[in-house]
Amino acid sequence: MTAPAAAVSLRQLLADRADARDWAGVEALSGVEILGPVPSAVGPAWRHALASLGYRITDVSELKNSTCGFAQRNGRPYFFKYVRAGAAIAELAGYLEFGAAGNRVPALLSLLRTDAGTVMVYEYLPSMGLGRGTLFDLLCRAERAGTLVPEREVEPLLDRIRANCARRTVCSESPIDAFFARRVTERLVPWYFERHRPWLDQRVVVNSVPQPVAMRDAMEGTAAFFRDLGARECMLSQGDFSETNVGRGAVFVDLSNAGHNDVRGELATAFWSLFLGGGYLFPKYHPAAYRWREAPYADAAPLCAARPDPRTATLHIDFAHRLSPARADLLSRLLEVFHDAFGPQLLGRELAPYLVMRAVGVLDLDTLEPADRAACTALVLRFWNERDDLGNVLRTLVDHGRTR
Ligand SMILES: Nc1ncnc2c1ncn2[C@@H]1O[C@H](COP(=O)(O)OP(=O)(O)OP(=O)(O)O)[C@@H](O)[C@H]1O
Ligand SMILES: [Mg+2]
Repeated sequence: MTAPAAAVSLRQLLADRADARDWAGVEALSGVEILGPVPSAVGPAWRHALASLGYRITDVSELKNSTCGFAQRNGRPYFFKYVRAGAAIAELAGYLEFGAAGNRVPALLSLLRTDAGTVMVYEYLPSMGLGRGTLFDLLCRAERAGTLVPEREVEPLLDRIRANCARRTVCSESPIDAFFARRVTERLVPWYFERHRPWLDQRVVVNSVPQPVAMRDAMEGTAAFFRDLGARECMLSQGDFSETNVGRGAVFVDLSNAGHNDVRGELATAFWSLFLGGGYLFPKYHPAAYRWREAPYADAAPLCAARPDPRTATLHIDFAHRLSPARADLLSRLLEVFHDAFGPQLLGRELAPYLVMRAVGVLDLDTLEPADRAACTALVLRFWNERDDLGNVLRTLVDHGRTR
């Protein structure tokens, strides 16, 4: 099914009304209650806004982009999230578009505007909260037991993704561009190019194979690719696939980038998260985001050693990451869903810049331990240097898990 892009998106309409401070208009368009600021008091604005409406806060987590937590009112539990005003409108738009297409999302009950940001009040989902039913929790438990994630959890999730793949359209921009094209100037330039990291130009040998290009070439090639993207195939998606944003019963949260999204961006995000980021790098370097989750699987680190040879100015990397069977199974089936929906060309060379951007644009490689940076380096160079055979590269990486 190919649908023409709507002339003016709901996202744009909501943003326009919010810019005009037409809150009644936002409420009428969305059906979600919008409440104005209450007179300020001492302490954080979000705490005061919730308290003034009778919410009792029971737990709080300070994250990079939000403060979120749980609250009770009249004996009922709620989830709240305090974000910048613009981010709340983006999430409202994602919530409406994604939920209207039959995807399970928690009910968004109200937006409480404050002078500094907006509190979003959601229905509390036990599986996403303290019930430990996010995909991260399910994977950790399966990994520890050496089993697969139960079929009753995997198939409904893949079914939803399959259905969303069928909601496709061609667009020249998508919410998920925030994680790709926009990160060239927001991250690649300030993190790497402007800082002249010496390892950018280092020659690299991975598992005894000299790499034809260095990290700088892969990153500059990636930056050039995103400079002029144009119209692309897009599909309906949650827009930030990670193990903590989906859960039991194929429920999705964190919808600020939900909508019609660049298919390659979607696939690269899911691949990187399930392959290395979500099970290992993100819990290790952003532990605060995991405070309500199972303990990360202890054996998730890639087997990676790096040895600089100053004589030849070469970095020798030995890399042998093996996925757990649970991750390998889920990832190979996810690749199959995308392959069936979009054909083998989706795994072609144009996917490489997206994979590189996930590997270098989420965490600053310079802040990682040397072995972790070496693992990312080995993968980036593999994605880039073998981009004419990327389908094979990804399947080989995933298939290692089956024999662990
Ligand atoms: N409706 C809900 N009920 C219970 N818990 C929830 C709900 N929505 C989200 N959560 C929990 O809160 C966490 C953070 O929520 P969310 O991902 O929306 O915030 P965020 O600021 O975008 O976080 P991050 O940037 O780390 O992804 C989720 O990973 C999930 O564990
Ligand atoms: Mg999240």
